[in-house]
Amino acid sequence: MNNLRKPVIAGNWKMYKTRDEALQFIYTVNQEVPTRDLVETVICANDVLLRDLVKRQGENLKIGAQNMHYAENGAFTGETSPLVLETTGVDYVIIGHSERRAMFSETDETVNLKLHAAIKHELTPILCVGESLEIREAGTTNEWVKNQVVKAYNNLDAKQALETIVAYEPIWAIGTGKTATPEQAEETIKAIRDVLVTLYGDVVASKIRILYGGSVNTKNVESLLAKENIDGALVGGASLDAASYLTLVKAATQK
Ligand code: PGA
Repeated sequence: MNNLRKPVIAGNWKMYKTRDEALQFIYTVNQEVPTRDLVETVICANDVLLRDLVKRQGENLKIGAQNMHYAENGAFTGETSPLVLETTGVDYVIIGHSERRAMFSETDETVNLKLHAAIKHELTPILCVGESLEIREAGTTNEWVKNQVVKAYNNLDAKQALETIVAYEPIWAIGTGKTATPEQAEETIKAIRDVLVTLYGDVVASKIRILYGGSVNTKNVESLLAKENIDGALVGGASLDAASYLTLVKAATQK
């Protein structure tokens, strides 16, 4: 294992799984998931399921939300408060997933406000950044992603930055079966680490985990995790099946 950065495998269930399916998954995975000393394992589920999952999580599996509002409370019908997530026992929250940026008007500014709110409420934010196919084809991926990172970390100090996890998720690779090659993923993730060096210096940047996400599966996970700067994965489709999820988690223990 890289001494500085413990690998993370975070499942993003999106809007899948009934309550019964979710509980069955947790029951199965709890028995087999490796110790948290080796890998951080997270499942990010639908809000309605979070309390039930937190109550049943074992020592080694932690629960995350997929989004939240930046305000603690207020007239925001249908939104989820970070305070409620914190008091529900949730440990992680995905911030700025590309589906939320594209379909639910998430902006770099709201992403930044949400990062601040997550840290205030002791939720580990998994900040998602990534480019569209047009941007990749135009050759401006790294500039695009750097800009997203700079805006997301606005006014976060080094101590707060250390509480964050980044997930590089090229939009064209999400749910499409088209994975970025390990080389493409490593190149952009290295560029993200370089931005963090600029913002916070070498020591802090070398401790922040940066994950890859986008059609990660049991076949490609090892080659992605073999790359120096790739510290784990944010996984949609392949996290829905307990056996597949456990295979990914076990692969990360070899990092
Ligand atoms: P995928 O989703 O693994 O199904 O491509 C990843 C994500 O959206 O986080």
